[in-house]
Amino acid sequence: TESWTVDAPRTFPTAAAEAAAQGCPAFRRDPHSVYAELREGAPVCPMRPPHGLETYLITRYEDARSALADPRLSKDMFGAMDSYRRIFGEDSTAMDDHMLNCDPPKHTRLRRLVGSTFTPRRVESLRPRVQQAAVTLLDACPQNAPVDLLESFAFALPVLVICDLLGIPTEDRAMVQGWSTTVARTGFDPRSREAGRRAEGELHRYFAGLISRKREHPGDDLLSALTRARDGSGRLSEQELLSTAWLLLFAGHKTTAYLIGNAVHHLLSHPAQLRLLRERPGLMESAVEELLRFDGSVESATFRYAAEDLTIAGTRIPKGALVQISLSSANRDPEKFEAPDRLDIERSGGAHAHLGFGHGIHYCLGAPLARMETQIALATLFDRFPRLSPAEPWAPARWLEVPFPAFRGLAALPVV
Ligand code: HEM
Repeated sequence: TESWTVDAPRTFPTAAAEAAAQGCPAFRRDPHSVYAELREGAPVCPMRPPHGLETYLITRYEDARSALADPRLSKDMFGAMDSYRRIFGEDSTAMDDHMLNCDPPKHTRLRRLVGSTFTPRRVESLRPRVQQAAVTLLDACPQNAPVDLLESFAFALPVLVICDLLGIPTEDRAMVQGWSTTVARTGFDPRSREAGRRAEGELHRYFAGLISRKREHPGDDLLSALTRARDGSGRLSEQELLSTAWLLLFAGHKTTAYLIGNAVHHLLSHPAQLRLLRERPGLMESAVEELLRFDGSVESATFRYAAEDLTIAGTRIPKGALVQISLSSANRDPEKFEAPDRLDIERSGGAHAHLGFGHGIHYCLGAPLARMETQIALATLFDRFPRLSPAEPWAPARWLEVPFPAFRGLAALPVV
């Protein structure tokens, strides 16, 4: 029932499209060969997910890049409410009033207000804390015994950083992370939706309480700064503030956690590249860009609604349709990147044109923080554990299996 095909007629032009739509284990293990087929044979591919909304998947780099910046493709979920309700259910809007769900002029106002507090200076000021947290987490890992690095490090580090940034008290963090994980796992079946709604309700109440405490006793954190942020057009409304806190919490840790996991996995699977990185630590910046290109953590979470009829690469997309843009596929397009299936941390220039952080007005606001965290995480990990290796070198990597491939990430990363 979670599959993207069951409730709907099978209208896939290619077997590859069906595999992609189902998010089946074979696809999760190797989405890249499926995307290669789609780029070749059906670059704007019609799909039939269970919610029944007409959906198109874009897989080529140039199409993806222009779609991300195309004002005819809207992020305004309130404007597309009928479509939205069919996908996510009736009452999931309480924390959705944020910049990623709207178009200009509202987007411009929200991004400016949040950007005025989430500044490069604030990000840079986190550096010593990120470094210290990375060391502490790694020190706590057992020596010479298998450990799931995804849980104990790749997730733990970004959660700690985003909670610090937002000013979420230490004693509340496990609870907040639990709710956020439940929301992230919400699928299309009624039981999972019910659990998702309950967790959303808890998060909503929690953030409402936290924001009112920050108003009374402001701290040095981002949430306190957001309660005070104002410009010529006023302040963030209560609902916008709450939604922004949720957006930052959610966007700010899963994405980075999965990227760190993917990066460690691929470096361990490419020993020559890892050796090169150890010998030339100056390559870390370009390595992280290449890892974002090679197997970034945001896959198709970048959907938009067609605000009018339009044509992309010869395919007509009707007004109201859902358009999914596969960043994973765009980043392996041989028309853009030479030998795209080769991990090459020395790749320069071109690799930095990857779409791992999106493109256009919704380009990731947290990119500088995500880059800093990933660079510190990898440098500290490989420095601290020079003999790090997969705990089960014979076992295939366990990728997340989800019906809707929003994120690309591992389910676990056992290492010694
Ligand atoms: C937007 C990726 C980390 C905050 C986006 C988008 C992508 C992305 C692809 C654009 C979505 C679209 O156009 O539909 C990533 C990746 C990350 C990461 C791969 C980690 C490796 C973060 C962090 C934060 C953050 C750490 C904040 C703490 C945001 C926000 C937006 C956004 C606020 C919305 C921007 C807007 O709508 O104007 N991110 N992100 N992200 N990201 Fe990230």
